[in-house]
Amino acid sequence: MNKKLKIAIDGPAGAGKSTVAKLVADQLSYIYIDTGAMYRALTYKALKSGSNLHDGSVLKFLLKETEIELEITEAGQAVILDGKNVSEEIRSTEVTNNVSFVATPQEVREEMVRRQQKLAAQGGVVMDGRDIGTHVMPDAELKVFLVASVEERAKRRYEENRNKGYETSLEQLKEEISLRDKRDSEREFAPLKKADDAIELDTTSMSIQDVVNEILHLVSERAE
Ligand code: CDP
Ligand code: CDP
Repeated sequence: MNKKLKIAIDGPAGAGKSTVAKLVADQLSYIYIDTGAMYRALTYKALKSGSNLHDGSVLKFLLKETEIELEITEAGQAVILDGKNVSEEIRSTEVTNNVSFVATPQEVREEMVRRQQKLAAQGGVVMDGRDIGTHVMPDAELKVFLVASVEERAKRRYEENRNKGYETSLEQLKEEISLRDKRDSEREFAPLKKADDAIELDTTSMSIQDVVNEILHLVSERAE
C-alpha cells in the first residue's frame, strides 16, 4: 500500500470522527489534522479578547494575526495558539457552545480552508471536520461521513466527561449537540453536508474498532 491518500472524515458532533481519524492515521503512518481544533482555537482567542463572535470582518482580522499549529506530542495532538499550548482550554463548554458562530462567516472559513489545504498538500493525510469532503479536500480519494443518533452521541460525550472526572446532564448535552448540529448544517457557506461521493457509516451501534476496520478496508480498496 504505497499510494499516499487523502482521507476526509466528516460528520456531526460526537459521531467519533477525531477518535477514529487518529487511529486510522496512526495505523497508516499518515498525518492527522483536526480542523475543529483550529476553529476552536480561534473561538478561544475571540472570547478572550472580547471580540464580536458574529462579525465576520472582526474575526477575519483576528485570524490574520493568529498562528495555529497542530503538533504531535507523546500525549497526542497539541494545539498551539500563538505559541501557547491551549489543548485543554479549547475543549471548554464555553468554547464548544460558541464555536459554530465563529465558524459561520465566509471570510473565516476561506482563510481556514486555505491553511488546511496547505497542511494537506502532500497527501498521506486524514483530516476530520464538517466540510472536508465538500470544500477542503474535494479531491480526497476516500470520503467518509460518520453519523450516529443524537442520543448515542450525547451518551458518548457524557461518558467522556465522566472519565475526565466531571458529571454533566445527559439532557443538556443532547440539547447542546442538537443546537450545534443545527447551526453547522444551516449555515449558508460550507455547511455540514455529506459530499455526493462520500460513504456514510452509521456508527450508533458500532465499536470504535469496527469503524476503524471498516475505514481501513475502504482505504485498502483505494490504495492498490
Ligand atoms: O469534536 P466535536 O464534534 O465536538 O467538534 P469539532 O470537530 O472540534 O468542531 C467544533 C466546531 O467547529 C463544529 O461544531 C463546527 O462549528 C466547527 N467546524 C467547522 O465548521 N468546520 C470544520 N471543518 C470543523 C469544525
Ligand atoms: O470527533 P467527534 O466529535 O465526531 O467524536 P469523538 O470526539 O471522536 O468521539 C466522541 C466519543 O465517542 C469518544 O469518547 C469516543 O471514544 C466515543 N466513541 C466513538 O468515538 N466511536 C464509537 N463507535 C463509539 C464511541
